[in-house]
Amino acid sequence: MCGIVGYIGSERSAEQVLLDGLTRLEYRGYDSAGVAIWDGAALRVARKSGKLEKLKAKLEGSPLGGSVGIGHTRWATHGRASDRNAHPHCAGPVALVHNGIVENYRQLRSELEAEGCRILSETDTELVAQLIARNLKADGDLLTAVRTTARALIGSFALAVMSSEAPEQIVVGKFGGSPVIIGFGEGETYFASDAAALLPYTRKMHFLRDGEFAVLTREHARVVDAQGNPLPCAPRTIEWDPVSVEKGGYDHFMQKEIFEQPRAVRDTIGARIREDAPAVELEGIDLSPERVRALRRVTLVACGSSYYACLIGRYLIESIAGLPADVDLSSEFRYRQPTTLPGSLLLPVSQSGETADTLAALREGRERGAQVLAVCNTRFASITQESDEVLYTVAGPEIGVASTKCFSTQIVALYLLALGLGSARGRLDDETLRRRLEELRQLPRRMEETLAQEQQVRAAARRYCDAQNFLFLGRGVMYPIALEGALKLKEISYIHAEGYAAGEMKHGPIALIDRNMPVVVIANQSPVYEKVLSNLEEVRARDAQIIAVASIGDTEIEARADVVLRIPELGEPLSALLAVLPLQLLAYHMATLRGTDVDQPRNLAKSVTVE
Ligand code: AGP
Repeated sequence: MCGIVGYIGSERSAEQVLLDGLTRLEYRGYDSAGVAIWDGAALRVARKSGKLEKLKAKLEGSPLGGSVGIGHTRWATHGRASDRNAHPHCAGPVALVHNGIVENYRQLRSELEAEGCRILSETDTELVAQLIARNLKADGDLLTAVRTTARALIGSFALAVMSSEAPEQIVVGKFGGSPVIIGFGEGETYFASDAAALLPYTRKMHFLRDGEFAVLTREHARVVDAQGNPLPCAPRTIEWDPVSVEKGGYDHFMQKEIFEQPRAVRDTIGARIREDAPAVELEGIDLSPERVRALRRVTLVACGSSYYACLIGRYLIESIAGLPADVDLSSEFRYRQPTTLPGSLLLPVSQSGETADTLAALREGRERGAQVLAVCNTRFASITQESDEVLYTVAGPEIGVASTKCFSTQIVALYLLALGLGSARGRLDDETLRRRLEELRQLPRRMEETLAQEQQVRAAARRYCDAQNFLFLGRGVMYPIALEGALKLKEISYIHAEGYAAGEMKHGPIALIDRNMPVVVIANQSPVYEKVLSNLEEVRARDAQIIAVASIGDTEIEARADVVLRIPELGEPLSALLAVLPLQLLAYHMATLRGTDVDQPRNLAKSVTVE
C-alpha cells in the first residue's frame, strides 16, 4: 500500500504541497519517497529511500521550484526499499507514481526487454512508465497513452502521470482497490490516495471510481471511462473532520480495518504468487531447495492475536510443508531454556515488530543458534532489524488496538511461507499448488461477501450484548479462530470470553454452560463438521444460547442454533479467514452497543513494548 499525491496550480509551491501531503500519507508506507515537479523548463525528480524526512532533507539542500508536481511514499510490494526503486519512475518525457500491484509485471518486463528497453529498477511501476512512454509516441496524447497502457495491466492500481511534453496537465487513473481522490481549489487542482491529505486545501472532492481516468488542469478535471467517454465530475463537499476522514467514513478505525481486510490480503499476496509457473516467490526469503531441505524444525513465537495466527501457522507448516513445527508464547519461550538444533528456524510474528517479549524471544532463539525469519507489518521495526529474513504483511498501519487486518494478513503470509517451504521440499505437485493458489486468489472476494452480512451480525450483537460470559468453540484451524474471537470480544467489550477446542468441552468447561452463557460454535463444512455438531448438541442440551458460524447452504444448522452467521464455502485453511470476520464484527458491535472505547480499550496499548 502506498500514498500518491499531486498538485497543479500557480500560487503554491508544488514541493511544499507534495511534502505536506506525503506527510499525511506516510502511514500508508514509508520505505522510500519521491517527487517530480515541472520547473517551467524540465521535469525535476527527487527521490530517496528511507523515511520521508530523508527526502525532505535532500530537498532542503536543493529545493525544486514549480507549481505542478506529483509525489509518492512507498510500501514495497516487490523491489526492495532503495533510491533506484523509489517513485516517481521516469521513461522518456514521462514521470509516474503508482499505488497498487501489477500482477503481470514479469510478462511486461520480458516484452519491454525484448524491444530493447533497459529497465533500471526492480519495480513493476517502472514498466508502466516505459509502456506509457512507448504508447505516447504512438498516441501523441498523454491520456490516450495512459488508457492504452492500463488495458495491458492486470492487478489493482492508482496511477498519476506527468509528461514534459504536456506539463500543464496531470493524468490520473484508478483500477481496483487503490483510491484516487481529486480536490478542487480556486485555479488549482489536487489529487491524493485519501482525503485527509487534501483537507488542508479543499473540501470539494471527487472520488474516482474503478476504471476511470481524469486529466487535471489548473481549472478543472476532465473525467473519462476506460474507453475515453466523458463522465460527470460533480465534486462533493466533504464535511468530515480530519480524524473521521482518516476513518474513511467508518465510525471507528477498527471497523474500517475490518473492512480493509480484503484489500490488505490482496496486497499481502501481491506479486508473490504465480499461477502460470505455479510458484510462490517471497522477496528476501531463501526458499532454495538446499536451504529448505536443511531445515529441521520451525518454532513460531508471538503474543496475543499474533500467537493465534501462529497456531494456524503451525498447522500449515506441518500439514503443507511436512516440517515439524511448534508454537510458543514469546513470554514463555524466552524463559524456558528452549533447545534449538542446527536447522532450527525461529519465526517471530508481530504486527508492530516492537513487542518486548517477542523481541526477547527472538534474541533467545538467535543466541541458541536458530535462523530467524520474522513475519512483520512494520518496516524498520526492531524485530525486523534483528532478523535474518523478514516476510512482510502489507496490511498498512493498524490504528485500532484490537488486531484485525494484521491478524488476517499474518495467516496469509504464513500460508505463503508454508506453500513455499512445501514446494521446495517437493511435497506439492503443480496441480495441488495451482489449486491452492487459485483458492488464495479468490479469498479477498469471499471475504467481501462475508463482510456484506454485517447487519445480521449486528442483530446478533443486539441480542447478546448484555451477556456477562461467552464461550467460543472450534476444531482444527477453527480452534485458534475461536481463541481469537474470544480475545476480540473480551478486549473491546470487556465481557468475559473464553475460546476452547470444541473437543475439550466434556473435560470441564461444559460445567459452565447454562442459558446465560451464549456459545459461539464455528461449524462450517469441514472434515470435522459432524464432530462439531455433536459438541454443539452437547451444549444445546444444557440450555446454552447458540450462535453458529456455518457455511452458506448448510440447511441442517438452522434447527440447531439460535443464530446462524453464514460464510462462503472455501477449503481449509483459508476458511479460517472467513470465519474470523463475523467474530470480529460481533465483538465490534457488542462493544459499540456497550459504549466502550472500541479503538482504545481500557488498560491496553497497541504495542506492548514492556515485559
Ligand atoms: C490483539 O487484538 C491485541 N491487540 C494484542 O494481543 C496483540 O496481538 C499482541 O500484543 C501482539 O502484538 P504484536 O503483533 O504487535 O506483536
